[in-house]
Order: sequence, then structure tokens, then C-alpha cells
Amino acid sequence: MQKYAFLLWREPSLSLAEIESVFWEYIQLDTFALVQTDKENIEKYKNSLWWTIKIALIHEEWVKKNNLAPLIVKKIAEKAQEGKKLRIGIDTFVPALKSLVFKVKDALKEQWCSIRVVQHDNGRTKTATTIHEKLIEQGMELVLYADRAWFTIAETIWIQDIESYSQRDMDRDRSMTVGMMPPKIAQIMINLATKWEKNLVIWDPFCGLGTTLIEALHAGFSQLRWSDLETKMVETTKKNIESQKIWAQADIETFALNAIQLDTYIAPENTVIVTEWMLGKNFTTQTISQQLAFQERKVLTELYTGFLSSAYKNKNIKNMCFCLPFWNIGNEILYMPEIGALSRDWSVENLCIKGKRYLFHMRPGQCVGREIVLLRR
Ligand SMILES: C[S@@+](CC[C@H](N)C(=O)[O-])C[C@H]1O[C@@H](n2cnc3c(N)ncnc32)[C@H](O)[C@@H]1O
Repeated sequence: MQKYAFLLWREPSLSLAEIESVFWEYIQLDTFALVQTDKENIEKYKNSLWWTIKIALIHEEWVKKNNLAPLIVKKIAEKAQEGKKLRIGIDTFVPALKSLVFKVKDALKEQWCSIRVVQHDNGRTKTATTIHEKLIEQGMELVLYADRAWFTIAETIWIQDIESYSQRDMDRDRSMTVGMMPPKIAQIMINLATKWEKNLVIWDPFCGLGTTLIEALHAGFSQLRWSDLETKMVETTKKNIESQKIWAQADIETFALNAIQLDTYIAPENTVIVTEWMLGKNFTTQTISQQLAFQERKVLTELYTGFLSSAYKNKNIKNMCFCLPFWNIGNEILYMPEIGALSRDWSVENLCIKGKRYLFHMRPGQCVGREIVLLRR
């Protein structure tokens, strides 16, 4: 077992839920989750932890500030080979350490180590720099963070490949009227709903443009079902899925269906639902009002109740992960009724409970956000 530091992404509670769903336990320290685990587990899960930016293996903990530079110099000197220039980066999460990299550079030069320090931005290395300079494969990146007066030295062993998945959106058929869920939301919902069990069947009954299915395919799921009220959307999803390079012989079934009649489809055993339905009207700060948000909530409450009840009647659906909208009306947040009020059948998984409500995501400047709910039979 070794100790690793996971750098959390923009919405730390989502990052932590994803980490917890794999590793069960962690300690949060500012923007990091500290996890004790085996190298094999890191290898197995690292490429599907979508809400973690980087993972660093912890080398030294409880280091005093004065001892930092000598220890870092020693670590780098051990790796530097004669006659070969080593590229290094030092990602510091402590503003007071932003010039440390230059101190280290001078000390290494005195020891005749051949190194090149990559570009730093106020003591931080950018994700793109770590990737393009191949610091993990051919160089070295150290991560420094503090817990009060104590410092930790860790070494980056994995970084999220930010460019690879923006690529998969390129050829997609888009629609100006059907909203598209952010791929990162689809990815975390798939992880939470399946806990990485790849033999499950994933069904999105509001497929729209197919974001869930595309992400499921990339995550290694090959049994996919999708439906939508509109045949046109079922076809659009098919086209979008088929545009993916890795599209091969997945086991698929597609059909038009009203999602308040989910019990009418004979789902395979071990089906999980992962979906985002309607978040309702696309309000802006100018158009939203308490009255309009309440009207939306009323309509959606009826729809979600029918959806949950028909899903429960379909006995092969083991669990489900989906989004509920919420509205930011100036200085007040209006939520949908709690799950217990929408359905008495399903149980809410602890993993998605945050305070008195659920995990949530809201893009900056928007008025409608998403709560992510995880239910089991
Ligand atoms: C917001 S879109 C889903 C977008 C999808 N998550 C994506 O990222 O591409 C909602 C979809 O639900 C479908 N829909 C609306 N009411 C429905 C119903 N009662 N049953 C099934 N599908 C429905 C719409 O046709 C639309 O395609």
C-alpha cells in the first residue's frame, strides 16, 4: 500500500464522490484527496477518474520548510542521468514557495546535474505543460502542498489527458433545441451508477444527442440501450455513436418510448439507467422569476414521478443515476421535491447525499443547475 494525493477538479464534492466510489476512504486536504491504496488499483482506475486532474505518489510528509529544497534536490539528482538533460517541473500549491523552483535549479547546477526546468506560472505547472513536456514519462514533476506548517513532497504519476476527449465531440451532430449534457457529468454518472462493473447494461431513456452512450462506449461498456420520445433523437444518437472511432460490435437496442412507460420494455438483467432528462426552460438571469421556476417545478415533478414509478416496475433495472434541475432565483435556490416525495420505491445511495440535498453541478453564470441522484432498488 502506498499513499497518493489526488488533485480534485472544479467541483470537489463530485471529485470526492467519484474517488469514494472506488477507494471507499480518503482524507480531504484543501484541493487534494489523500488515498492509501495499491499501485494496481491506481493503474486500474486512473484513466476513468474524470473528476481528478492529477495523481501524485507521496514521497515525503511532515517536512519542515527549511528542509524542502535539500530533499527536492536529492530526489531530482537521484533521477538525473549523466549526459542526459532531465526536464523537471515543480507544481507548488503554496504561494510562498513559488520561487523555490529557481533555488532548486541553482543547487542542482552546482551539483553538475543536467536539468531543464519547464515553464512555471506563479509556481504552478500547467496541465498542458506536464503533458506536452512528457514530464511523467521522460522527466519528473514534483507536487508540493502544505498542511499548516508541514509540507508534503509527492511525484506526479498520472495526469488527465484534457485534449483526448474534447476530440470526440468534434464530429457530433448537434441540435440547437436539444440541450447537451456536459460529457464530464455523463462520465461521473456512469461511474457512480456502475461502480466500474463493465458487464452491466446501460440504458438512457432520454437519449437526446447520445452523450451518455458515447461516454459509456468510451468507458468500455458494450451493452447499450437507448430510447427517446422522438424517433429522430434515437436516430441522431445512433449516428453520433457510429461516428466514434471505437464503435465496433456493441450489443445495442434502440427504440422510441415515452419514459413514463419504462416498464413496457423487457430490459436485460442487470440494467442500470444513466440519464439526464429535462432541466426545463433555459432561463437566464433576465428571464427567471420565482413564479416561472415554481411552474417548471410543478410540471417536472409530475414527469419525474411517472418516470421513477415506471422504472421501478421494470424489475431488471437495478439502479439509476440521473439529474434533477434546481433554480437559482437571485438570492434563493429552488429545488425539486426530495426523492422520497417523488418516489417511495427507490432508496437514495449515501454517495450522492451532500448536506441536506444531493451532489450538484452548476455552470458559472447559469440559473439552472443539476443535482446528481443515485438510486437503488
Ligand atoms: C435534454 S435532452 C437529453 C439530452 C442528452 N442527455 C444529451 O446530452 O444529449 C431531453 C430528451 O428527452 C426527450 N424527451 C422528452 N420527453 C420525453 C419523454 N416523456 N419520454 C422520453 N423522452 C423524452 C427529448 O426528446 C430530448 O431528446
